[in-house]
Amino acid sequence: MRRRIRWGLRHGLIRFAIRRGIKTGDLGTRLMVEPELLADPFPAYEQLRAQGRLLSNGMVLTALDHDLCVAVLRSPDFGVVGNPSGQAPAPLRAFERLAGRGPLSPAEPPSMLATDPPDHTRYRKLVSRAFSAKAVAGLRTRAEEIAAELLDEMATHGPTVDVVHEYASLLPATVIAEMLGAPVEMRRQLLDWGHGAANSLDAGLGFADFLDVEHDLTALYGWMDSHLDEVRRNPGQNILSDLVHARDGEGRLTDEELLSIAVLLLAAGFETTVNLIGNGIAQLTGHPEQLALLRADPALWPNAVEEVLRYDSPVQRTGRVAHRDTEVAGERIRAGQLVLTLVGAANRDPQVFADPQRFDVTRANAGDHVAFSSGVHYCLGAALAKMEGEVGLRALFDRFPDLVPVGTPQRRKARVLRGYDAMTVRLTASVDA
Ligand code: HEM
Repeated sequence: MRRRIRWGLRHGLIRFAIRRGIKTGDLGTRLMVEPELLADPFPAYEQLRAQGRLLSNGMVLTALDHDLCVAVLRSPDFGVVGNPSGQAPAPLRAFERLAGRGPLSPAEPPSMLATDPPDHTRYRKLVSRAFSAKAVAGLRTRAEEIAAELLDEMATHGPTVDVVHEYASLLPATVIAEMLGAPVEMRRQLLDWGHGAANSLDAGLGFADFLDVEHDLTALYGWMDSHLDEVRRNPGQNILSDLVHARDGEGRLTDEELLSIAVLLLAAGFETTVNLIGNGIAQLTGHPEQLALLRADPALWPNAVEEVLRYDSPVQRTGRVAHRDTEVAGERIRAGQLVLTLVGAANRDPQVFADPQRFDVTRANAGDHVAFSSGVHYCLGAALAKMEGEVGLRALFDRFPDLVPVGTPQRRKARVLRGYDAMTVRLTASVDA
């Protein structure tokens, strides 16, 4: 019963709004649910852009332009959406009490993603050094070793393999597991739970999907809770040991805050980078002339990763709520208004990117994308993700230069995250012989 009420509050009301939006033909709403639009949202983004830079459907505002998204994401007049359904109106608060709390979630406080300063600043300070460009540079050689080991293993399963299952997911999962001192043999299980838990980022889930999400969130946070006990008993040289020290030594984190940060690092560490690598494989095999440019000049690889992030952004949307009446990039926005920032659309803004629908690994300003958001919540793991994307894609195409897709890859069923669940490829023409 409690779960039904929780679902109703978090998703049922939004589903009601979605149904209304669909009835009126609102394209922004259709983009949330129609499989064909989710598979290829880019033409719809351009149709929306043609209607204006800030669109209202009566409930939310949608920003598609680069300057407007950046202005909203950077403005101190906006805060994160702490609960997918926003602050419940007064008549619903009694139901909130009845619903109980449910498992922790990356989409709700005290998750760093769902917290505003000053708490957010406190959490972020504790972990930012471990993800700095300098720290990440020190991890590159190990990431290259892991990529080589995974490719060796994958080669034994050829000639056709699911490159997402065997490679794109395991590379980031292994790197972050090692960074956090989590047992590497748990990586498949953690990936499974993390994959389910990541759907908590989508609002308007059906009841069955909501139950699956709560199940995976409970399993993931439960596992991390006992792992943190183990870290307390046997601290090592890793980020979680430092965090436990911050909790126990100086009391700067509550148990719940510690658990929330630990799970966010773990899940964010692989749930998005798998999409970067998978989307990169799809774009590069789909644009062989671009792959040829990279073969001719490997110094282009970092820029190619920026272009994948721009062109096929692993996170397509986020949102903010106005804390007060304000004006951003020339648009007046009232207090309490929810603004969806479609970063996937901002990354195709023709005002910023010439010929934006073209995938071009030599694009001079590819790095101006907002795939990692902007402002105080700018992705903590951006340097790590870019390094893993570069190492992962380059190692794959160096090792299997004849790699070709087989059949149609399977897109993940998600709105916020954009990537593939499965992608069958033939590794080399010669393995066949
Ligand atoms: C291609 C891969 C990745 C993409 C596209 C990505 C994207 C993003 C985006 C868009 C946000 C901000 C959301 C918002 O503003 O509402 C974010 C935040 C975050 N990301 Fe990533 N991310 C990636 C990889 C990683 C990795 C490898 C880690 C490592 C642990 C990570 C950790 C985080 C954390 C902790 C936050 C919260 C930061 C905060 O709220 O201050 N991400 N990411």
